[in-house]
Amino acid sequence: MSGIVIREVTEEDYEGVVGIRTAYGGRDYLPGLYHNILKRHKGFVAIMDEKMVAFRFMYLVDNGMTILPRAGRVHQDYEGLGVYRKLDEFTMQVYKDVKYKAVSFHNRNATLMKKVEEGAYRITLNRKLKTYRTTLKSLKSDIQKRTLQNDVKHVDSDDLKGILSNTDVTKHMFSGDIFASCWTPLRIIPENTSHVFADNGVVFGSSVDDAEKAMISIGHPVLSSIGVSYVLDFYGLQRNDVADHIVKHFTKHRRL
Ligand SMILES: CC(C)(COP(=O)(O)OP(=O)(O)OC[C@H]1O[C@@H](n2cnc3c(N)ncnc32)[C@H](O)[C@@H]1OP(=O)(O)O)[C@@H](O)C(=O)NCCC(=O)NCCS
Repeated sequence: MSGIVIREVTEEDYEGVVGIRTAYGGRDYLPGLYHNILKRHKGFVAIMDEKMVAFRFMYLVDNGMTILPRAGRVHQDYEGLGVYRKLDEFTMQVYKDVKYKAVSFHNRNATLMKKVEEGAYRITLNRKLKTYRTTLKSLKSDIQKRTLQNDVKHVDSDDLKGILSNTDVTKHMFSGDIFASCWTPLRIIPENTSHVFADNGVVFGSSVDDAEKAMISIGHPVLSSIGVSYVLDFYGLQRNDVADHIVKHFTKHRRL
């Protein structure tokens, strides 16, 4: 493929980048989070025919041990031509000294599921996903009706660092070495705390002083053109506490 230029993006590239394509049926997080993500991670764009035709962010996580491409987009007129492959080659060359590459995807993504079957990718974390849709009015009324049954406390950055450093807790709370925070796979190490709180992340915990029963919930509000998606990740699941955690998150973000 000729006539392709790939370069790092800046704040000024916002319009060009979000104009490449909308994704996820209007629930695309890229327009709402572009500037925020760019403060912490690098983004790269492919230019052809003098216009931006492909993009991806490169998240460096796990204390520099893992590179995570995110928010990949190819303009529909240029799809299937290998532009994304070129962008992959270029960006992976930039991070060639990083030990691991990770991607997160839905199991309906046939292309990447095939790569798993072929052995090109190894699954390190498998999460069940449930999606609910509601209105602000009905959410408010449900929250007001509910009396909290359990002691669910706000978990700040120091608290989370403590949890991620304490193997007595983590061996019960997580299965394996990886957890996910809003689709970002992270190793269970205290250095990843800042990635959890980035992009308006909020954490609540219950029974946090009991290594076997401790539970946390990580919430991220994601603004898009069709509303707010609130992504919640639960760990150390205590079924009785789940509803209280949900109420705590939505009470915290009641002004959204
Ligand atoms: C997914 C998308 C970027 C692929 O574009 P494309 O033009 O078909 O890509 P190319 O033909 O250049 O390259 C295909 C390569 O991308 C990889 N790829 C496809 N979907 C991918 C995904 N969701 N994440 C990472 N890589 C992906 C393929 O495995 C293939 O790699 P290979 O050459 O090693 O086999 C494009 O269809 C798109 O913008 N979709 C809408 C947004 C979206 O769903 N993005 C998902 C990433 S967050």
